[in-house]
Amino acid sequence: MSGFLNWIEERIPMMRVANMHAIQYPAPRNMNFWYVFGFLATIVLVNQIVTGIWLTMNFEPSAERAFASVEYIMREVDYGWLIRYMHSTGASAFFIVVYMHMFRGMIYGSYQKPRELLWVFGMLIYLALMAEAFMGYVLPWGQMSYWGAQVIVSLFGAIPVIGPDLVVWIQGDYVISGATLNRFFALHVIALPLVIVILVFLHIIALHEVGSNNPDGIPIKHKKGSLSEDEKTKYEIHEYYTAKYDIADDVVPFFPHIVLKDLVAFSIFLFGFCYIMFFAPEMGGKFLEHPNFEIANPLKTPEHIFPVWYFTPFYAILKAVPDKLFGVIAMFAAIAALFALPWVDRGRVRSWRYRSGLHKVNLLVFAAVFVFLGYLGGTPQENWKIVASQIATIMYFGFFVLLWMYSKNETTKPVPTRIPR
Ligand code: HEM
Repeated sequence: MSGFLNWIEERIPMMRVANMHAIQYPAPRNMNFWYVFGFLATIVLVNQIVTGIWLTMNFEPSAERAFASVEYIMREVDYGWLIRYMHSTGASAFFIVVYMHMFRGMIYGSYQKPRELLWVFGMLIYLALMAEAFMGYVLPWGQMSYWGAQVIVSLFGAIPVIGPDLVVWIQGDYVISGATLNRFFALHVIALPLVIVILVFLHIIALHEVGSNNPDGIPIKHKKGSLSEDEKTKYEIHEYYTAKYDIADDVVPFFPHIVLKDLVAFSIFLFGFCYIMFFAPEMGGKFLEHPNFEIANPLKTPEHIFPVWYFTPFYAILKAVPDKLFGVIAMFAAIAALFALPWVDRGRVRSWRYRSGLHKVNLLVFAAVFVFLGYLGGTPQENWKIVASQIATIMYFGFFVLLWMYSKNETTKPVPTRIPR
């Protein structure tokens, strides 16, 4: 067997790559709870792809058959309900873990030099994920699918000069129709998953080139090649890393240490995931909205139109601005600001553990404002909510402005040179 494996290894470096990027990857030994969400996002991505393939086997992407084919999957196909709920619960789970993953990056400054590109790839994944989720939501062709698509696609109509033509181009018709459904299906099942998988690959490559950050935000890799032979054996680190970095006792091999932590997180995650999937797949109308159990009807507008919960913070920003065009600009600016984070933050200390009290408060307020915007954008409009969403929008952008202002000359605590024991 080992002869056979060697024969393969000499032709394609499977074990070498597995060792470098998984088994022996040197992980900071202080990685904590916040570090499980990248792994969980990967698991959910696989879940979405696998269940998506099975759903595609019975789904019919036409305005006439889409709604009925979903009902068919739910009622007639063996375990079709399970596969659909795995997919629909997976969509929300994806955003939960990705938001936690992003927040981890923010508290530990994982976007700062030299991880700027890693963050940008992450943001590109986030954008692709939003497009993927939006198009997926249109496919069951329920009332919310139809009217949600109507609201979002019409936003492009606010762009001066090209707007109206752009809307027709996106829809493939003068209205949202079967042609729109069909192209969204193509993008949802093949184009965007491909883009996401490629981006995740680049994300990991970018991460492993510079190495993982950690809760103390300090470099674990400096002073090349100062590891003793004993330490190399003790930590079983591949010579690629030992030659490149001084990684002494700040790190542990990814397997088994981090893998085991990730598996604990995975089992806890599975409890939550299965609970929702089996007992509350609609999550009170948050994961699957009630109007979507009614077939799309272009002649009947639902009483309230909201996007699914994970889009609602940006939807609230859109609606906070009275002018449609400026609303669209504010919404895109809110996402662009996140892209720019590595350059907005001019601080040199990464982790919030060693940064100023102001920074901690700024970050926590930002997180609270984001959740509050989500609430405002996902519940029926009332007068007070208009003013509230305007204040929250200003506070959202205020986070970035403040960060830019104080980060240059921030008073920070002394940062340890090695990971504290
Ligand atoms: C499909 C979605 C994503 C997947 C599968 C994914 C996967 C991963 C994995 C496996 C890691 C290493 C483990 C860890 O640190 O948790 C990681 C690290 C990282 N990801 Fe993601 N990621 C995704 C989306 C994002 C997004 C949207 C962002 C931010 C915009 C982001 C930013 C980062 C950063 C900054 C790190 C390095 C963290 C550190 O070393 O402290 N990722 N990602």
